[in-house]
Amino acid sequence: MRKQLTMNSYQKPFSSYLKVATLLITGILLLTACSKEKVEKDTHGISIIPLPTEMNLGGGYYAVPETFNIYLHNENPDLKGVAEYLINRLANASKNSFQIVGQAGELTEDGIHFLIVDDPKLGEEGYRIEINKSIVITANEPNGIFYGTQTLLQLLPPEIMGNEPIEVALKIPKVRIEDIPRFQHRGMMLDVCRHFMTADSVKRFIDLLAMHKMNSFHWHLTEDQGWRIEIKKYPKLTEIGSKRKETIVAKSFNPYVGDGIPHEGFYTQEEIKDIVQYAKERYVNIIPEIEFPGHSSAVLSAYPHLGCTGGPYEVATVWGVHEDVQCAGNEEVYKFAEDVLTEVMELFPSKYIHIGGDECPKTRWEECKKCQTKIKEEGLKDEHELQSYFIRRLEKILNNNGRDLIGWDEILEGGLAPNATVMSWRGMKGGIEAAKQNHRVIMSPVSHCYFDHYQGDPDLEPLAIGGYTSLRKVYSFEPIPEELSAEESKLILGAQANLWTEYIPNYRHAEYMVTPRISALAEVVWSKSESRDWENFQQRIKTQILRFEAMNVNYSKGSYKISFTPGFNKDNKQLSVSLTTDRDDIKIHYTTDGSNPTESSLVYSSPIPINETTTIKAGSFLYGELIGKPYEKEVEIHKAVGKKVNYETPYSPKYTAGGNLGLVDGMFAPVETQKERWQGFDGTDFSVVVDLGEESEIIKIVTSYLHKPNSWVYRPNKVEYFVSSDGIEYSPIFEQQSSISIKNSDLQKEDFISSFEALKARYIKVFAEGVKQNPQWHPNPGGKSWIFVDEIVIE
Ligand code: ACM
Ligand code: ZN
Repeated sequence: MRKQLTMNSYQKPFSSYLKVATLLITGILLLTACSKEKVEKDTHGISIIPLPTEMNLGGGYYAVPETFNIYLHNENPDLKGVAEYLINRLANASKNSFQIVGQAGELTEDGIHFLIVDDPKLGEEGYRIEINKSIVITANEPNGIFYGTQTLLQLLPPEIMGNEPIEVALKIPKVRIEDIPRFQHRGMMLDVCRHFMTADSVKRFIDLLAMHKMNSFHWHLTEDQGWRIEIKKYPKLTEIGSKRKETIVAKSFNPYVGDGIPHEGFYTQEEIKDIVQYAKERYVNIIPEIEFPGHSSAVLSAYPHLGCTGGPYEVATVWGVHEDVQCAGNEEVYKFAEDVLTEVMELFPSKYIHIGGDECPKTRWEECKKCQTKIKEEGLKDEHELQSYFIRRLEKILNNNGRDLIGWDEILEGGLAPNATVMSWRGMKGGIEAAKQNHRVIMSPVSHCYFDHYQGDPDLEPLAIGGYTSLRKVYSFEPIPEELSAEESKLILGAQANLWTEYIPNYRHAEYMVTPRISALAEVVWSKSESRDWENFQQRIKTQILRFEAMNVNYSKGSYKISFTPGFNKDNKQLSVSLTTDRDDIKIHYTTDGSNPTESSLVYSSPIPINETTTIKAGSFLYGELIGKPYEKEVEIHKAVGKKVNYETPYSPKYTAGGNLGLVDGMFAPVETQKERWQGFDGTDFSVVVDLGEESEIIKIVTSYLHKPNSWVYRPNKVEYFVSSDGIEYSPIFEQQSSISIKNSDLQKEDFISSFEALKARYIKVFAEGVKQNPQWHPNPGGKSWIFVDEIVIE
């Protein structure tokens, strides 16, 4: 229930105002909930995310008077909006009443004072908040004042973020904070196409950005699987293009299984205007993304003449990259683009408009007369230059209207459009290249910024697209690559995370994927890089989580995940397993007898020695309660465990699986790719020799390989094993071709098993012939492909 507000006392100009001589400091009740007490003790009551640039504690508290005013010291009309936003949030402080008072003069003690100043130090977005005898928020622009109010809210009990009445009197620690963001682009992308999210959900998402002082919402509005924005001139885009007949079930690509349930949804232009206004009031700019020329199945299903073949087409029900794209040789496509972008620019005031540009296969263009004619007429070298030509034409449309183009890093291929900003997603490389060409860049690499990846153990998390991007990993992200000079680094506008929603069927789930990782990202893009401190962040994230709870946000407990890390002591030949979490407030209990861990099971304190094949079950306990389900791993003892592996082909520093022990650690990588357990080799074969240390009797060799063409990972073409006693002369004992067709896109693993009569050997050589390059049919043909290997089992 919300308390009635007294909001009608906004007067302008205001000549005299109430002076409160005495402050009635009512008894300050302490918050009672146990977890909150612990948090307060740990953080001394101050827990701001993102961490401010500079903070000085004054000692003691400012008690918020029962009647409390927000004074607007400047004429700027936007200040009233910020004040109303703040009052709305403060409304549940049931012991206080709040009013907005215009045009004040003195910094009276009964309120919050908003001051717009001219202070070069604060820049376009910085602010200062001083809490002493009153609360003063100073900034050059209203957005700075807004960020100051976000900080103020974080100085109050976490419940202030919810809608339940707070029964205690408010008190605020005396503090002076000066805070200036590191980057100008601090963003999140949400894909509402793979799964539609309602307008209210989108607003909740914007609220999450606002509380993190993020200023950019990248709204992915068009896709193969659905077109979600009303365009008056092309009504079929939503009549046909916003609806798909069904959706693929989980990862049932081959054979395809659909759920038989139609999926649809789009935003009317009125709804969009409303959301744009909602975001504006929270100082969030919306960058719409309209995909060209790829990811266009929905466009083509509505207007088949825009494709190279003329169709028929349908709104896609399967994820991935689709070959039917917009025809780059057809002038009607450019007319379509201009018409659509014109309506988009009318709806979105953003300086930047995102035109997609990613994952556009060239197969149709290669066979299309119109496309080939266009290549000739324009003197283009190939289809990549045709794509570049396409993007340049889009850029002209935007530039002519005073807007700037953003595209995914594929827009580098065939040459960048003159003023384009590159969003670097396939790693940092595209961003580096663009900056070196003097183009602006937004970093959003798959490695740290794809929030559709797992954030906890895939065995225990809801199905995700793959990967593993923990809270800690996001926190470790550095948007400025070392390769850039100081001057080039200025072109890095900032960073954002992307939430693609293939495996995210509703908004509750989207929240789960975004929180708390957004808190880590917020700190990456706002706070000084020198102040990055994981230990300290872990303390503060606890309070942030209480805020999420107050907001009824479905945050993930993935950071309670237990990691199992093998270790091998060469001296005593002892394999052991360490258990760790990202959180220092967790107690781990574990068992090795197959039973589920409870609070009375062994407490983990040091690596667990493993002498025989063992299943470890471990649970994260917080204040005596098990968080989520227990984690379970089997550790298998076989003859190669802990033995020396000589690499004839070095593993990539990107996928080390823990280094030289990675392939002989007794632990198996899950197929649901927790990539940290697979050892990766790119663009090469795989060849290693396992040295058992002495001649040993062996009867079996097994090696396993991941197959995941979507991620450029293929099983080897064939595998061979050799044995030797001296490491010089080898005898072949096994050769087998892969049984999986290279075109099979299903995620799976292939085991190459060789059993034989007992023989004696010291050295076992494993050779696997790599695919090395993506095949021609792949969306990125010729790209260096991977072999992912795990566990060389020798019995
Ligand atoms: C992307 O993830 N295709 C930009
Ligand atoms: Zn064509």
